[in-house]
Amino acid sequence: MPPYSLVKSSNDAYCPPYTPTVVVFGGTSGIGKAMAKRLGEQLQGRIHIIIVGRNKAAADDVFNSLPLPPAGDGDDDQDYVRKFVSCDLSLMKNLRKATEEISEIFPKINYIIMTSGQATFGRKRETEEGIDSQLVMRYYWKFAAINDLLPGLRAARDAGEAAGAFSVLGNGLGPKIDFNDLGGRKNHYLGVVPLMQGAVYGDLMLSMYAEKEHGIAFTHMFPGMVDTEANSPAAFNFWLWKFFAALIIPLAWAFFIRVEVSAENMVYGLLSGEKGFYQRDTKANSVGPRNVNYTEEQKKIFWEHCLETTRSVPR
Ligand SMILES: NC(=O)c1ccc[n+]([C@@H]2O[C@H](COP(=O)([O-])OP(=O)(O)OC[C@H]3O[C@@H](n4cnc5c(N)ncnc54)[C@H](OP(=O)(O)O)[C@@H]3O)[C@@H](O)[C@H]2O)c1
Repeated sequence: MPPYSLVKSSNDAYCPPYTPTVVVFGGTSGIGKAMAKRLGEQLQGRIHIIIVGRNKAAADDVFNSLPLPPAGDGDDDQDYVRKFVSCDLSLMKNLRKATEEISEIFPKINYIIMTSGQATFGRKRETEEGIDSQLVMRYYWKFAAINDLLPGLRAARDAGEAAGAFSVLGNGLGPKIDFNDLGGRKNHYLGVVPLMQGAVYGDLMLSMYAEKEHGIAFTHMFPGMVDTEANSPAAFNFWLWKFFAALIIPLAWAFFIRVEVSAENMVYGLLSGEKGFYQRDTKANSVGPRNVNYTEEQKKIFWEHCLETTRSVPR
């Protein structure tokens, strides 16, 4: 892993011979927002960006902050798409609508960045679609989003361009997948189980997509503690965690990674993955493969569980 100055200069040198198309789930806040801005600034606005989330005003702020492509660029500004797709990702029916809309606009996608999510705690709750409300936000929406947008990634790969799906969350750690409780129906412990299982589900999912889809990069990158909105007491839904967060966060803030620094490393991790499965630490060092060793039978069971739970039709 090069030092930070080289990470930065490597990102500064990013200038593909085509206009990249990037879908940012979570581009309205925190790491996703900072990555969208970093890429847009680096390319001087010569990028197509779709932001998926619930907060349109925040997405518009990101779009408005991006540089306009320089005069004489040869393209009309309007050719560079800035599009907000409103979607509450906790429901698969919403996600499906969003991915259909995205696929119609962009038959070819270079990067899917996935930072949407929240580490929630509290009593077990299921969505109206019968999915654990925490696991759906930690994991299931990502499985479904990649599945639905695969044709776009394949089109980029087949055109000789970069293609990658990039998920931001802890990776390679914690207990392995509990095959006696897929979907988290039995064990919960106020949200700790879905919190951990969501991350390891993500590891196996990305490694399996990489096995199935050659020439596309599937990356799981750990953010560490970053000074984003996710770490404000308001972000915690459970009163006990809110209380502890209010006590601890002001003390811990000095040790958090600045979001711009995190985004720089994330963009480096995104751009340096060419094809296959990557697990990366906060500085984009490759640390895998870790915790993805399962039997073929277990992998088959897991994949079918994910397709069924997210009502996904394999693309
Ligand atoms: N920051 C850290 O220290 C840290 C540490 C470990 C893990 N993580 C994880 O890393 C990821 C990115 O963190 P971050 O700090 O960038 O978080 P953040 O600033 O809180 O941003 C979270 C994003 O998730 C979106 N989101 C949340 N619930 C949603 C829903 N139901 N439907 C659609 N979008 C939803 C939000 O968009 P809208 O508001 O527009 O819906 C927002 O863009 C998260 O999964 C977080 O849990 C972060």
